[in-house]
Amino acid sequence: MVKICCIGAGYVGGPTMAMIAYKCPDIQVVVVDISVPRINAWNSDRLPIFEPGLDEVVKSCRNTNLFFSSDVESHIADSDIIFVSVNTPTKTRGLGAGKAADLTYWESAARMIADVAKSDKIVVEKSTVPVKTAEAIEKILNHSSRDGVNFQILSNPEFLAEGTAIDDLTNPDRVLIGGRQTPEGQKAVAALKGVYAKWVPEDRIITTNLWSAELSKLAANAILAQRISSINAMSALCEATGANVSEVAYAVGKDTRIGPKFLNASVGFGGSCFQKDILNLVYICECNGLTEVANYWRQVVQINDYQKLRFVNRVVSSMFNTVSGKKILVLGFAFKKDTGDTRETPAIDICLGLLGDKAKLSIYDPQVSEDQIRRDLTTSKFDWDHPQHLVPSSPTAKSKEMVTVTWDAYEAAKGAHGICIMTEWDEFKFLDYQRIYDGMEKPAFVFDGRNVVNPDELRKIGFIVYSIGKPLDAWMKDLPAAPLT
Ligand code: UDX
Ligand code: ADP
Repeated sequence: MVKICCIGAGYVGGPTMAMIAYKCPDIQVVVVDISVPRINAWNSDRLPIFEPGLDEVVKSCRNTNLFFSSDVESHIADSDIIFVSVNTPTKTRGLGAGKAADLTYWESAARMIADVAKSDKIVVEKSTVPVKTAEAIEKILNHSSRDGVNFQILSNPEFLAEGTAIDDLTNPDRVLIGGRQTPEGQKAVAALKGVYAKWVPEDRIITTNLWSAELSKLAANAILAQRISSINAMSALCEATGANVSEVAYAVGKDTRIGPKFLNASVGFGGSCFQKDILNLVYICECNGLTEVANYWRQVVQINDYQKLRFVNRVVSSMFNTVSGKKILVLGFAFKKDTGDTRETPAIDICLGLLGDKAKLSIYDPQVSEDQIRRDLTTSKFDWDHPQHLVPSSPTAKSKEMVTVTWDAYEAAKGAHGICIMTEWDEFKFLDYQRIYDGMEKPAFVFDGRNVVNPDELRKIGFIVYSIGKPLDAWMKDLPAAPLT
């Protein structure tokens, strides 16, 4: 029986390995992690991540051919194929700070593999890493391993998106496997291809050299994020001219060369990948002397930051230039719907912007806990991507007076001056906005950062409504659109 081990039981490692186990009953899959609480959660009825359809997949094969364990070393020693899916934070200090990937966790995983491996292993890069990481990992493995033990490194980046992970894994657009162009390298590629071929049509399994596979992942995320920044840049122009960004996106997306996906204007993209991967790409370009290319991609992140700043500015300027002491209901905190993940969620920057102006926030998200929200509002930039026990708690914790977290949107709306919609949860479309309006201070504002509500219906109730990239309410027409610099 082929044995697979995956180091890192996170958003990528957990669902991906569950799918391999589910589709390949003849393979034993063990997911290991240094975090004991995380492993305990994977073994419990309440999985550590919320992902539609994941519970069913895990339950159908857990303890049959899918196992979760914190006994990292013994399972590594025992496996033929080892996936590495650990954190790759952005460096906060030293060379490349604020851009380059910090490979500390990767390096320690590689050293552990070298220490405990007694037989040949295929080591698969699953977490997104800078181009040429495989080369560094190869060096660690080959220089610190026992004599006679051979390693083959493959790059097999994961393209699943959160919220749709199970569908994406079941029916991927493509599976990408990069390996060395040597006979041993190609043998390893074929072995991994054999695993995916159990359920993925062969023509969707692409094999390339190692560097192409590593770069393709960064390139895909950069280009997806670029589309969002492009439409978000257009949203600012729509507001200035009276065009409607949804109509523009629809018309543009009808061009089959462009296509309709990923053209939803928003308060900004979030998630663990886009910003981190682009900054990483920028750094790699700079290291290769490609300043113009680096500046081109950096602009995608800058437009994203601008979009968030613009949103806060809309809120503050609409509410008589101050939100000090005013209660604002924040609907949604996750970085997109159908996930409880808050990594790099735009809601953090919006909340911090409003708190900076002394607003009182009342936050509701159907999947994000109070602990998580409080942690997010106090964690320094880039620190989120370290295992939790390594992140120091901040002394600037937001007081309960400034931030309350609630499980009831109606209760939270009572006495609020404004509502900011940060996540496109379906339930926000169907709230009883009349009931909410009745309990709010007047004038009552809605700032829709995801274009989920119908502005005309809300205006009929009496709300003053701002929807990203849509024709402006008369109230806002003459107010400054962009932050004054
Ligand atoms: C992304 C990539 O899509 C995936 O292939 C890769 O493996 C990991 O990174 P993910 O971050 O999970 O996946 O979610 P995604 O659906 O890409 O959304 C990212 C962010 O962009 C979210 O904040 C989302 O709300 C935002 N977004 C997406 C928009 O603002 N507009 C859009 O049109 C699409
Ligand atoms: P992703 O979204 O890429 O899956 P996560 O942060 O959700 O990232 O998961 C990464 C996981 O890797 C965390 O659960 C962390 O505890 C784990 N991890 C980091 N370093 C190691 C290591 N050396 N050995 C085992 N697990 C590790």
